[in-house]
Amino acid sequence: MKLLDWLKKAQREKFAICQFNFSSSHQLRGIILGALESKAPLILGVSPGEANFLGLDYVVWEVRFWKEKILKDLKIDWPLFLNLDHAKELSLIEKALKLGFDMVHFDGSNLPFEENLSQTKEVKKLAQSFKALVEGEIGKIPTVSSQLYSKQFKIEKSFLTDLREAEIFVKETKVDLLAPSLGNFHGVDVDFENPHLDLKLLKEIKEKVKDTFLVLHGSSGTPKEDLKEAVKFGISKVNINTDLRLAFVKKLEEKICKEKEIKPYKYLAPAEANLRREVISKLSLFNSQGKVSF
Ligand code: G3H
Ligand code: ZN
Repeated sequence: MKLLDWLKKAQREKFAICQFNFSSSHQLRGIILGALESKAPLILGVSPGEANFLGLDYVVWEVRFWKEKILKDLKIDWPLFLNLDHAKELSLIEKALKLGFDMVHFDGSNLPFEENLSQTKEVKKLAQSFKALVEGEIGKIPTVSSQLYSKQFKIEKSFLTDLREAEIFVKETKVDLLAPSLGNFHGVDVDFENPHLDLKLLKEIKEKVKDTFLVLHGSSGTPKEDLKEAVKFGISKVNINTDLRLAFVKKLEEKICKEKEIKPYKYLAPAEANLRREVISKLSLFNSQGKVSF
């Protein structure tokens, strides 16, 4: 089954496919093993920063290695997809498509609306020739720079996606997926829970954009009841990064800083295991466990 079919299934059966980002082989293995254990479909994401660090071709090679290994060991064509997340440069997008990425997220949210519209259209045209899906974005989804210390980060009304713009955007660009701004932000607030999502706005956007799949960015730290409601209201894909990084780093800190462990396999193994547990817990939160039968 292709990614498009999986998104349709998610929409029909009211679950969300998780996109987990990674920037190291150990994170990737933790994610893969967690999703396999949960029998869940999986989208792997790399932002331009993550992709440039690893090398786009290395990312593709490593993901392919896992797909082939799973096919060989378990005899299943496991739904494992790859997305270039928050890409702003057309050249990087083209490179990813040529290498075989299943989807690309063009983030033109910082551009004036008309410019975002025309560049997204261009990306859609390009992606179509590679049979890849495109995610567009309108509205502002801020990033807490440290990803940790937001100190009651303030979401302004002007950040939120405009309903009318959302309608025009999907109609004109024909994107397959849309990332709206619903009061979500990238990173977590360690002092307070992240702000609530504007679920009313989500419901209204879903009514306007109909079959376009909706994506929730910045899902780390968001109140759990909001995440569950968001799936009921039409979110079909959720992007998670910071919570996984935190699970990984927490164990590294414990092993390296407190226990003074210096053997990589002794500090990386518990970090990977902790990340894997976090993956399993996220997958169950979004009802995507048990969707792959083997
Ligand atoms: O595109 C990536 C995500 O939106 C991740 O956000 O780090 O808050 O989980 P997060
Ligand atoms: Zn994001």
